[in-house]
Amino acid sequence: MALLVTGGMGAGPLVYLAKVLTADYAKIDVIAFAGAKTKEELPFEKPLDAISQGLGFSLGEFAKYGIKSRVATDDGSAGYEGLVTDCFSEWLGQHSWSVKDMIIYACGPEAMLARVAEIAGEKNIDCQVSMERRMACGFGVCQSCAVECKVADSSETIYKLCCKDGPVFDSKEVVFSV
Ligand code: FES
Repeated sequence: MALLVTGGMGAGPLVYLAKVLTADYAKIDVIAFAGAKTKEELPFEKPLDAISQGLGFSLGEFAKYGIKSRVATDDGSAGYEGLVTDCFSEWLGQHSWSVKDMIIYACGPEAMLARVAEIAGEKNIDCQVSMERRMACGFGVCQSCAVECKVADSSETIYKLCCKDGPVFDSKEVVFSV
């Protein structure tokens, strides 16, 4: 079971991942959680699919791959009222799949990624986060895209490069700046 958590424009990359995960050669169960400030700010041109699939609103871009989704808006104008991370956390609390059978993929604002990483850590679920940095060169020279990361079995940290070492990192290694 892959759990996709997105905020704002982070939905775009995860739609591509959703397509890969549900392809014939993978066929992995996927559920998506997408957050925005308001209904109008939800991603995609036609965000709310008519098919609710028993999980509240569905995002059309995920539904076309047979993926159920939950929408959260800060003002409650669509779906869950509140942060997508709260929606996600509540949903996790209501389901009892083995954590070994779950993995989280998150893409969105760093504050959202930090909270998803925290939830994943509490539940001991593997989690990958797609980090965003300004990238001046894109090939490891300018150092503008540094991501602070923990060193295993140490209190030390090092800087990795989002463009070369990422942009996807294990959530356990990232030192979030929020
Ligand atoms: S963008 Fe220049 S080092 Fe990453």
